[in-house]
Amino acid sequence: MSSLVPVRFEPFDLDSIAQANGRVVVIIPAEGKMGPAARRANRLTKGAVARMVESDRFSKVKTGDVVSMAWPTGLEAEALDILILPRRPDQDEARKAGAKLAKLAGGKDMLVMAGNQVRSEDLTLGMVLRSYDFDAHKSKDATEPGTVVISHNKPDEVEAAFAPLYAIADGVRMTRDLTNEPANVLTTTEFADRLSEMSALGLEVEVLEEDKLAELGMRTLLSVGQGSVSPSKVVVMQWKGGDADDAPLALVGKGVVFDTGGISLKPAGGMEDMTMDMGGAGVVAGTMRALAKRKAKANVVGLVGLVENMPSGNATRPGDVVKSMKGDTVEIINTDAEGRLVLCDVMWYAQDRFNPVGMIDLATLTGAIIIGLGHQNAGVFSNNDVFCDAFLKAAKAEDEGAWRMPLGQPYDDLLKSRIADMKNVGGRAAGSITAAQFLQRFVKEETPWIHLDIAGVASVSSETSYAPKGATGWGVRALSRFVQDNFE
Ligand code: BES
Ligand code: MN
Ligand code: ZN
Repeated sequence: MSSLVPVRFEPFDLDSIAQANGRVVVIIPAEGKMGPAARRANRLTKGAVARMVESDRFSKVKTGDVVSMAWPTGLEAEALDILILPRRPDQDEARKAGAKLAKLAGGKDMLVMAGNQVRSEDLTLGMVLRSYDFDAHKSKDATEPGTVVISHNKPDEVEAAFAPLYAIADGVRMTRDLTNEPANVLTTTEFADRLSEMSALGLEVEVLEEDKLAELGMRTLLSVGQGSVSPSKVVVMQWKGGDADDAPLALVGKGVVFDTGGISLKPAGGMEDMTMDMGGAGVVAGTMRALAKRKAKANVVGLVGLVENMPSGNATRPGDVVKSMKGDTVEIINTDAEGRLVLCDVMWYAQDRFNPVGMIDLATLTGAIIIGLGHQNAGVFSNNDVFCDAFLKAAKAEDEGAWRMPLGQPYDDLLKSRIADMKNVGGRAAGSITAAQFLQRFVKEETPWIHLDIAGVASVSSETSYAPKGATGWGVRALSRFVQDNFE
């Protein structure tokens, strides 16, 4: 597992500029007005900063740009980074600037001369998020991880403002680690073990094993995992930070630790990407971690269905009919449409047991959502406009792409089966919507519900603002904010 970059907040001290190792950052607004740190750095470098600010090139810099000087004379540091940022940036400007600095640092020590910089906590969050590196399986000598030092006039205030953001960053880190982990390491058992460890944070964690799942009647979930030697499990994580009699918000995650497609086997090319098919469960886990670490004043329950979709002599066949926990029967036309079979039982169980105020499921559910929305937006489906708008607002505030998609009876009609209550696929057209329609059949009328299809955003092949290639942790920030704004 990876660890978060350590962060220290220290009283603003101009003398630290000359001695710092690694990289030193001074902040200058685009107008070029130098503050005390820039002036000290300028004096130490015999006017190099002023020459840069007065150059023609400087008139072209934009907010968020970084101009770097390597091995500056007069400084111990290996680089002096001039970050262009107004004193009062907005949240995204501050976070993105931090992310850019972290990318430059590449894991080295970094001293940020923040002074009286507003939103230094957001700058720091951007640094911490972008400092992530999944090197658990690289055998080259582990380099000493760097430290981020924020030198600020009011270090205690910034540290206090940063504390809940660090909790969220740690949730994002966990989601990314789980999502990046290969399937031979992150088996269903290992996944459940990692979730159980979170009881140390004050979460109540229960692992429901196969015999219990069979007793509960989770036959569609079990039908997905029956071809694998890894046992299927459902993990329930309860965070009780709110009033004892408040019904919880339920988060439900698809945790297919590997999706071969089953007997409806996927083609070989790109199949290795299906290690991320537990991404929904990863987001639920990371969000529960963030809520516990920042001691959210709300009741939230996270449930994940952990299974492996394998072909074998014992695997489900296309054409099999299975009865869900709800009691509806499903004709399994395609064993590769397995996520919905896992979710429908866990969603039913979540409503049955917890009677939640609302339910949000997350799943890397369909390739079709990538065709529709690319890697920029998750697909959002909902039966409740108020609930949905509140989530979209939180996602926007966290700069996490989310776009609402339609639902409706004509789509639901595509799931009709000749021999059972429904089929598990609706055909190629509107594949993400028919998948959502399938799930909606397991949502009680009175439960406000959102389905998030995160197949395009959970893990991406090029870097994003806040993450290197691979798992992004999409959704942890939005969900944490959604809880904060609506339930705390
Ligand atoms: N896990 C996949 C969806 C997926 C595809 C996630 C690409 C991430 C990247 C899901 O289980 C699946 O196989 N869906 C099928 C559904 C089809 C058989 C109706 C798909 O999208 O092709
Ligand atoms: Mn599949
Ligand atoms: Zn899948």
